Formats: sequence, C-alpha cells, structure tokens
Amino acid sequence: MQASTASAPLIEVRHLKRYFGSKDRPVRAVDDVSFAIHPGETLGLVGESGSGKSTIGRTVLRLLERTDGQVLYRGDDIAALSGERMRQLRSKLQIIFQDPYASLNPKMRINAILGEALSTHGLAKGPGERERRIAELLQTVGLRPEHASRFPHEFSGGQRQRIGVARALAVEPEFIVADEPLSALDVSIQSQVINLLADLRERLGLTMLFISHDLDVVEYLCDRVVVLYLGRVMEVATTAELFARPLHPYTQALLAASPKPDPLIVSEAVPLKGDIPSPIAPPSGCVFRTRCPHAIAACAQTVPTLDEESPGRFTACSRKDLRIALAS
Ligand SMILES: Nc1ncnc2c1ncn2[C@@H]1O[C@H](COP(=O)(O)OP(=O)(O)OP(=O)(O)O)[C@@H](O)[C@H]1O
Ligand SMILES: [Mg+2]
Repeated sequence: MQASTASAPLIEVRHLKRYFGSKDRPVRAVDDVSFAIHPGETLGLVGESGSGKSTIGRTVLRLLERTDGQVLYRGDDIAALSGERMRQLRSKLQIIFQDPYASLNPKMRINAILGEALSTHGLAKGPGERERRIAELLQTVGLRPEHASRFPHEFSGGQRQRIGVARALAVEPEFIVADEPLSALDVSIQSQVINLLADLRERLGLTMLFISHDLDVVEYLCDRVVVLYLGRVMEVATTAELFARPLHPYTQALLAASPKPDPLIVSEAVPLKGDIPSPIAPPSGCVFRTRCPHAIAACAQTVPTLDEESPGRFTACSRKDLRIALAS
C-alpha cells in the first residue's frame, strides 16, 4: 500500500515526555518528542540502546502513561479516552515484542493463545468461526493449521515470532508497534520475519512504528525514519533521503558505524566513540554535543530546534554552516 503523507495522520505524537524515577532527579527517557505516522506508513525509530525507543512505543500505545505531551489517534488524545473507549481502541493498536520466547505463555497451546486474543475483542462468534479464524491467521503468517494444537516450546524462534505476529493480527489492528521484533532471532531467520512484515503491510495496509537499531532492516522496511538520541529527535526524513544524505552528525555517525556491503562506498563520518550520557543528567544545549565531532562552544548554550530543511525533512542541529558544506 502506498503511504501518503498528504493524508491526515493516524497517529500523532506531540511534545511527548516520559520521565521515570523521582521528580527532583528524573530519568528523562523521552524528552519533547514529536512526529506523525500516516495511514499505511511504516515509520522507523532508530537510535542507540537507551535512547528511549521502547518507552516511546509503549507510551504511544498507552501501555505506559506519559509525563507530558499528547498522543493523538485519528485526532483524539488517547490519554483523555474513557475506560470503555480505550478498551475499544486497544484492539486497533497492537504490539509485537522483541522476545518471542518471553511473550508467549508456555502453558498455552497456540489455539488458546490466538483464541484468547479473538475472544477478548469479541471477534469470533462460536467455536467453528474461532477455529476458522485461527487457521486463517496461522496461514497468514506462514504456519499450518495443525500447528494450532502445539505449545510455544515446540516451535523455532522464527516460528514463535510468527505466532507473536499472528496474535497481534488476530484483533485486526490498524496500527502495530514492532519493538525490535528481530533481535532475538538468528540472522538466518530474521529475513523470513522481515519479509512477513513487509508482505502483511502490503496486503493489510497496516500502519507500523518499527523500532530497531539495525539500519539495514530499517532501510529495507521503512518509508520514513525518526532518529532518536537521549530521548530527543535528531532527524526526521524519508528513508531514501536519510540514507543517501544524512544531515545530522549523529545520523552520520550511526550510518558510519553500520558498514555497507559495498566497499566502494566510503563514509567520511567518524563512528561514535564513548557511551551515551546518563538521561538523569543530559548535557546542556544539544544533548549530542559531548560526542559530536562538529560541536562548538555555542552547542552547549541552546537546545537546537527541529528545523524543516526541506519539505518533510527535519534536523535538530544548530550548525547550519555545516549543512551548507555538506550539501555542496
Ligand atoms: N521503568 C523504568 N524505570 C527507570 N528508567 C527506565 C525505565 N524504563 C526505561 N528506563 C530508562 O529510560 C531510558 C530509555 O529506555 P528505553 O528502554 O526506552 O530505551 P531503548 O531505546 O528502547 O533501548 P534498547 O535499544 O536497549 O531497547 C533508559 O535510560 C532506561 O534506562
Ligand atoms: Mg528497547
């Protein structure tokens, strides 16, 4: 399905903050993040470990309450929805977890796991209908109907992740957060799950927030990308633009750290050194400045705004002179 950024967003995140811990020394896991996801679009969320990706994914689904800001679903603030409206919305919003081993109840057979998802939202009336839907779901994710009577441990990691996908699909969602759905899998089976997600997106027109630190997968699967660092957005661009010409020094460093199979493409950016600072005491001004090869004194003074460089393309770097040099 062709994603259209001209249409009204399905999900809109506005100035989202999620802090953890004490009020006087909070962990600023997500600090003023804004982005939109349009119907049919797959938006990638990338950034090093601890940058706040999972916290955003969970807050968007209201599995975690926000500290400040808004999450709009078709224009409605989900935090303001009543219990009943939120219950109805739950079926439209689903999550696929990182760990297919931990996210399935080992004591339940597959038909019970999928059946539970179906009946929670009243989607299968009667046992015949239920059985038919389960068989259909298994087929959708490339498993066989007879797999329904098995337990999770009787499957491989890739098959288990397919069951996780089938469970998310059981409720006919509009929007899925996939939080590192591949990282627990062997490289050999990762591509099967990637292809499954790509195929489902085409066939079902799913809208997806795809969280990953594997840039190759993001490049393959996503329409647009949000680059996150220490709970803040550094850059937003279409996948093609981001990979062809990253504007933010952090994005440049991330791409430099992820070597291309083509040895003729030599990146001039320096890979990142050192660890991500603590979100309890983030650097003043630009949070990336302590690791940025281009930082100047002014970068410690003001928090850069997320500026629109070209239509739909945003970067949060005060060094405009740098961008002029890069573009030429
Ligand atoms: N429940 C919590 N209590 C306190 N701090 C938390 C909690 N959950 C997350 N954090 C902190 O918030 C920050 C962001 O965490 P988050 O899990 O969102 O990062 P991530 O980008 O998903 O990382 P990874 O790539 O490792 O999954 C981290 O510094 C983390 O330690
Ligand atoms: Mg995470």
